[in-house]
Amino acid sequence: MTDDRNIELRKSGPLKGEIIPPPDKSISHRSMIFASVADGVSRIRNLLRAADTISTMNAMRALGIDIDDKGEEIMVAGKGLYGLKEPEDVIDCGNSGTTMRLLTGLLSGHPFLSVLTGDDSLRKRPMSRVISPMKDMGAEIHARGGDSFAPIVITGGGLRGMDYTSPVASAQVKSAILLAGLYVEGETTVREPHKSRDHTERMLTAIGADLSVEGLRVTIRGGARLGPMDISVPGDFSSAAFFMAAASMVGGSEVLIRNVGVNPTRTGLIDIMKRMGAGLKILNERDVSGEPVADILCSYTGLLNAVETGPEEVPAMIDEFPILAVLATQAHGTTRIRGARELRVKESDRIAVMTEELRKLGVEVKEYPDGMDINGPVRMKGAVVKSHGDHRVAMSLSIAALAAEGVTTIKGVSAVDISFPGFYRTLGELSQSL
Ligand code: S3P
Repeated sequence: MTDDRNIELRKSGPLKGEIIPPPDKSISHRSMIFASVADGVSRIRNLLRAADTISTMNAMRALGIDIDDKGEEIMVAGKGLYGLKEPEDVIDCGNSGTTMRLLTGLLSGHPFLSVLTGDDSLRKRPMSRVISPMKDMGAEIHARGGDSFAPIVITGGGLRGMDYTSPVASAQVKSAILLAGLYVEGETTVREPHKSRDHTERMLTAIGADLSVEGLRVTIRGGARLGPMDISVPGDFSSAAFFMAAASMVGGSEVLIRNVGVNPTRTGLIDIMKRMGAGLKILNERDVSGEPVADILCSYTGLLNAVETGPEEVPAMIDEFPILAVLATQAHGTTRIRGARELRVKESDRIAVMTEELRKLGVEVKEYPDGMDINGPVRMKGAVVKSHGDHRVAMSLSIAALAAEGVTTIKGVSAVDISFPGFYRTLGELSQSL
């Protein structure tokens, strides 16, 4: 599908005001999937309504779950672990890797046939990382390219537990295995090289799963009955990140971002930005439905320094590298990003794409297989840049445009609807010169 929506942005005056980011995408997906296999009606407030989470909502409906969208909240009539029905058609996961990988795990526990597909981007993304452990557990799975790419055809059931060491730190892989583990008699263990986001562990434990975490090892014992949930989804840190960066780059800015999820497995960018010298204050920390939440006050400090990041820091800021690359253009020195090879298999190849597009704005970037070097600070010059159909690239380039001289045209901006449909409205509210 070609995306011909473009937007023109100019260099911005100070960004000022308060915003509330959209609800967390990871927690929204999980809440619908887990509630579907819980016993009873779950109530989910502040669910993200964006293309990715609508893919999950449609998928759960196709599996026979009644989801009543009341606007303020949704009610999911869970049917218990064994209540899903065989879907009548192929399930389209759209652009959403989380939908496809978590459902591969869940459906591996079900003895019926399901077929998962997705858009051009999703059908290029590696699925062997979930297919291979599911086959080891006993599911029958076929997929394109030697069981590597969607469409994925699953006939599950009869799973056996295993102790799996994942070669990648991926919350989607970890979650797929834990979901399959719900359907195993006995224990299933997953180990990861670095800690990835832990929403699945928190949420499954809260509704009654028999799950234990020890460092980088998570073990689930199957068969426990899951109870319904009543949750309020916090704001998405990964969406807030664009405005944290914007306020740090645009002179005179002060932005208060309210109700942001600050789970430490997600907030690596806060540590990095503090190291760079950005003005971030974490205020009013509280617990909402088992997740830490805070308000973040972001002020322009006038001086950003380059940083170096390595593999151990990658999982907690995996989705924030495109915006970190933009921030680095305004930092003094060479920012070195390494150990981030995973960025090449996201919604786009984010290393190649950010290198290509930032160069168009006049930035000196060196590309590496697992990262990039970015020299700053640069007086960027407005140009025509492309989103490559990637929501986070579209938003990152839009923030770069605010610091570039003249006009920047960003092509393909409907991609923002994947995670943040109101992005340009929110930006407009904060900007005095847009
Ligand atoms: C997600 C996990 C991450 C992240 C993605 C959402 C999740 O992917 O990049 O946007 O909700 O579990 P990986 O598991 O591939 O690292």
